[in-house]
Amino acid sequence: MPRAESLTSLRRSAPHVLPSMLLCDFANLRHEIEAIEAAGVKALHLDVMDGHFVPNLTYGMPLVAAMRAVTDLPLDVHLMISNPADYIVRYAEAGADIITVHVEAIDAPEPVLAQIREVGCAAGLALNPPTPVSAVTPHLDHCDLILVMSVMPGFGGQAFDERALDKLRQLRACAGDRIALEVDGGVNADTIAVCAEAGADLLVAGSAIFNHEDYSHSVTKLDQLARASHGDGSE
Ligand code: DX5
Ligand code: ZN
Repeated sequence: MPRAESLTSLRRSAPHVLPSMLLCDFANLRHEIEAIEAAGVKALHLDVMDGHFVPNLTYGMPLVAAMRAVTDLPLDVHLMISNPADYIVRYAEAGADIITVHVEAIDAPEPVLAQIREVGCAAGLALNPPTPVSAVTPHLDHCDLILVMSVMPGFGGQAFDERALDKLRQLRACAGDRIALEVDGGVNADTIAVCAEAGADLLVAGSAIFNHEDYSHSVTKLDQLARASHGDGSE
């Protein structure tokens, strides 16, 4: 199936908990992926940081390619990097299915989003907590997904920023059903239900999964909380 369709199929059965692989044990990557797959997740969220757009550095194309080699799950690549346009082709070649760039990192989102679609991936646009929804709404026709950050990007384990909820509701109201909404940062058993209720389809969780021994237990619990509350954003 064309890679962009991974997102369409994820949305059909939304909501989904996506593990942020940032906090996994990289020395045992194959085992970590097997364990998280066995926990029933439907896609992996990969956090790429460049030490420039965000004050932290993680991994790049080789690790995305390494993950691609050991799983058939869709790879949701979150680029927290400056000049993302320079890297779209390479992340697509590494095996990304969804590529998300930050609106704060680019002057003109539309050519970058078009480039992501041209390489066959689903195109996502992310916004940080201080960035207003009006920064992304003019570009909705060029997006397959909007990623609402509920922490300042850079580190796992931060507290959830409630401003994300209103943004999810506003985005669902103006985008209707045609765009997937994702939320990332501080999503855990206390915050996941309100995110799903506000309209998030994809709920990224890092520490709420990887800080526990039993991934299946954590994923199942988060998934149940999200499913019980998933809505269209209306109050
Ligand atoms: C933040 C990353 C997130 C984050 C999630 O910069 O984009 O994906 O690591 O981790 P938790 O769930 O621990 O906030
Ligand atoms: Zn992320």
